[in-house]
Amino acid sequence: MTVTRRSGTAAALCTGKTFPVEPEPSPDTDRARQLYRERAGHYDRWVKYLNPLRRRVIGKLQLRDGDHVLDMGSGTGASFEALRAAVGTSGRVTGVELSEEMAAVARKRIDDHGWANVEIIVGDASTAPLPTDVDGVLFFLVHDLTRIPAVVQRAVAAGRPGARVVALGPVSAPRWAVPVNVIGRVIARRYITTFEGFDAPWSHLAVELPGLRVRRILGGGVYLATGSRSDATR
Ligand SMILES: C[S@@+](CC[C@H](N)C(=O)[O-])C[C@H]1O[C@@H](n2cnc3c(N)ncnc32)[C@H](O)[C@@H]1O
Repeated sequence: MTVTRRSGTAAALCTGKTFPVEPEPSPDTDRARQLYRERAGHYDRWVKYLNPLRRRVIGKLQLRDGDHVLDMGSGTGASFEALRAAVGTSGRVTGVELSEEMAAVARKRIDDHGWANVEIIVGDASTAPLPTDVDGVLFFLVHDLTRIPAVVQRAVAAGRPGARVVALGPVSAPRWAVPVNVIGRVIARRYITTFEGFDAPWSHLAVELPGLRVRRILGGGVYLATGSRSDATR
C-alpha cells in the first residue's frame, strides 16, 4: 500500500513502523500558471516589504554600467528597478515570466517608468528563447524554477564566462527551528507547486556552478546562493 507523505508520517508516529513515502512531484507549470493568474492582481502588495532584502541580493550580482542581466521568473517586475539602477541606462534587463497576468503587471511598470532597456520574454523558462550574452542571472523567490534542471542549465548557459548567478529562496530550516519551518511552509505553499528539493533548493545550481557558495539567513528558513559561470561550465 502506498500512503501519502502526511498519513505516512502520522502512521509512523503512532505505530513506530515506517511506511513508504511518495516522493515530492516535479514543479507543475500548468498549476503555476493558474496560481499566478490568481495572484497577479495583489502580488505586489506583499512583496514590497522585501525590497531592502531584494536590493541587497541584487548587489551580490556585482553588476556594472552597460551590463545585461537576466531575471528568471521575473513576475510583476519587482526587481526591475534595482536591476536597472545597477546596469544603468546603457545596460539591459531581460525578464523571463510564465504568467501572462504577472507579465502584464510588469509591462505596466515598465511603461509607467518609461524604461526603454527592460524587456520581458513571456513563456516557460524551460523552453523560451533566452539571451546568450548576460553578465548576471537572478533567481529571486523562484523555487519551482530552481528545481527544473533544464531551466538552471539554460539560465547558466545564457551567461558569458564569468557571469554571476545569485539565487534567494525558501529552504527547510534545521528540524529544531519548528516555528521557522511551519511559517516558512505556510507562506511558501501559496507560491510554489512542489516542496521537491526543499532541503537543498540550490542543488541543481551547484551542479552547473562549481564553487557555488550557499548561506542561510533569516533564522535558517531562507538561503542565498552566489556563484559564477566559469569557462568550464557547460
Ligand atoms: C514567487 S514569484 C517571484 C517573482 C519575482 N521573481 C519576484 O521576486 O517577485 C514566482 C514567479 O515564477 C514564475 N514561474 C513559475 N514557473 C515558471 C516557469 N516555468 N517559467 C517562467 N516563469 C515561471 C511565476 O509565474 C511567478 O511569476
